[in-house]
Amino acid sequence: MNLVKRCVFGISILSLASLNVQCKGEKKEEVTQEAKATDSVSIVKTEYGKTEKGVQIDRYTLKNQKGMEVNIITYGGIITSLKVPNKAGKSEEVVIGFNSLEQYQKANPYFGALIGRYGNRIAKGKFTLDGKQYSLAINNEPNALHGGPEGFHRAVWTAEEAKGGDSASLKLKYVSKDMEEGYPGNLTVFVTYTLNKDNTLDVSYDATTDKKTVVNLTQHSYFNLSADFTKPILDHVITIDSDKLVPVDATLIPTGKLTDVTNTPFDFRKPTTVGARINNATDDQLKKGLGYDHCWVLNNQDKGNRFAASAYDPTSGRLLEVYTDQPGIQFYTGNFLDGTLPMRNGGTYAHRTGFCLETQHYPDSPNQKDFPTTVLSPGENYKTKTSFKFSVK
Ligand code: BGC
Repeated sequence: MNLVKRCVFGISILSLASLNVQCKGEKKEEVTQEAKATDSVSIVKTEYGKTEKGVQIDRYTLKNQKGMEVNIITYGGIITSLKVPNKAGKSEEVVIGFNSLEQYQKANPYFGALIGRYGNRIAKGKFTLDGKQYSLAINNEPNALHGGPEGFHRAVWTAEEAKGGDSASLKLKYVSKDMEEGYPGNLTVFVTYTLNKDNTLDVSYDATTDKKTVVNLTQHSYFNLSADFTKPILDHVITIDSDKLVPVDATLIPTGKLTDVTNTPFDFRKPTTVGARINNATDDQLKKGLGYDHCWVLNNQDKGNRFAASAYDPTSGRLLEVYTDQPGIQFYTGNFLDGTLPMRNGGTYAHRTGFCLETQHYPDSPNQKDFPTTVLSPGENYKTKTSFKFSVK
């Protein structure tokens, strides 16, 4: 490769620091190796801002050569931006987000955030382990939601970058202290975001504890694949590989039964638009959720990482497929978005302008003896993975 070509190549894949080295034409061999090592996916760190307590927050931009770019900040491990191409090859924003750290700290219904220690609701904020009852803050009357008011979505994570030939990763770490937000045990958590060259974003979760505790981690991005956040997501075509739902009571706590989705608005085994049945006034579960805000029991639970769900926007042609090893997925259609939160470039996020596909264990598992366990004991490794794969059709 001649020098000119190498410099052009470098612009698209290397950080500015490496680019200087490369374009001066120094250390020819090393530069070539670096270009190979970083191959098609780059990761670049920039300063994002300071928290209200004065803590420095960084932003990492992961970018590949197929038009996918993801921005993640160390506050809450939040995905602040995710751009992917439409069928005409145009990369555009497909996640809801704010344009300031201040707004993420002020009022954020978990836009883009990492959720822990326990994603979803725990009934009345109480659970028992080895005969001892633990009490959590009630932040979603009358229940505890998403790890509490100071959950992982508001934690400052430390970050480490890693580059591989066909991917770049950001490994985030947070140590949640014993009894933080009411949960027992010092919990050491790693969440690794990996952008691959084929437009897949992998999210891997690892955790260990020094006392028995409960853990249910997830990612809470709100997608709108049309890239037009003034439009509701009702035209998106959804598929969920699930025969059964986790029905809930009026406070969105599971009744304990798992019900067949056949002949209900919750059957997404065949691709169906969000809007086709969401306003079915006679369906009791839709009434309780004010739309879709439920956990589906994913099929093939013995198969490890497998296809879980997809969303397709016919106008842009964008397709999102979700793969996971988790037993459930919460499909939430932004029913509580109410036109009060600011969009990035003016205007506000209206009702149902984003949807979430949160891979997880079922809600309230610590209080449901028949649900797969969310208990983590010392000596065990909590290890799960979810992938968000983008393409067009
Ligand atoms: C929950 C919703 C909640 C939303 C934002 C979702 O995971 O299921 O009920 O409103 O998060 O807080």
